[in-house]
Amino acid sequence: MRWKRWLEDLRRSFIVESIRSDERSAGGILLGHDMNWAFWNGIGGGQADFDEPSGNLSPRDRAMLYEYLNQKAHVDELIHAFDKFAQPVNVARGATIVDIGCGPFTFGPALANVLGNGVSFRYFGVDRAASMRALGKEHEAKYEANARLSVVPTRRVQSQRKAKR
Ligand SMILES: C[S@@+](CC[C@H](N)C(=O)[O-])C[C@H]1O[C@@H](n2cnc3c(N)ncnc32)[C@H](O)[C@@H]1O
Repeated sequence: MRWKRWLEDLRRSFIVESIRSDERSAGGILLGHDMNWAFWNGIGGGQADFDEPSGNLSPRDRAMLYEYLNQKAHVDELIHAFDKFAQPVNVARGATIVDIGCGPFTFGPALANVLGNGVSFRYFGVDRAASMRALGKEHEAKYEANARLSVVPTRRVQSQRKAKR
């Protein structure tokens, strides 16, 4: 299954354009760094602490770089996996989904892409990195504006639970 238009538009307009139009980017240089540095140091191969600055990169820069470099492949994998369900709508309709280590809300829109309009589910993204959660929240507004989906990955995330006494 292909990416739907709203998801492609979101990636192009919000993620790709933001990185490429940044004054630190030029040609193969992303936010002031070559691809190798950006991948291994900027996002730690996907395993960075995205709330820590790195060099000239703010936590938000690092989360944006993650989206630019890694998120597309994750969305592709998820769409492929969801598509293997015989009846993905029946599986997901009305479901409550908790995505632990959600990053910038990757799973929710990938599932929405497969389900299409009119199928609602609740999506809770949990991530320790405030920068990732903040990006997810920014995207959330765009799902409604661009996709007009009733499927809206919602809700807030908590980085840590209070210890039970
Ligand atoms: C490789 S990224 C994957 C993000 C997302 N699932 C995706 O597919 O795009 C890993 C994410 O897990 C988060 N993470 C790592 N350890 C965590 C923990 N102990 N609790 C919550 N989130 C965590 C990181 O902040 C990061 O956003």
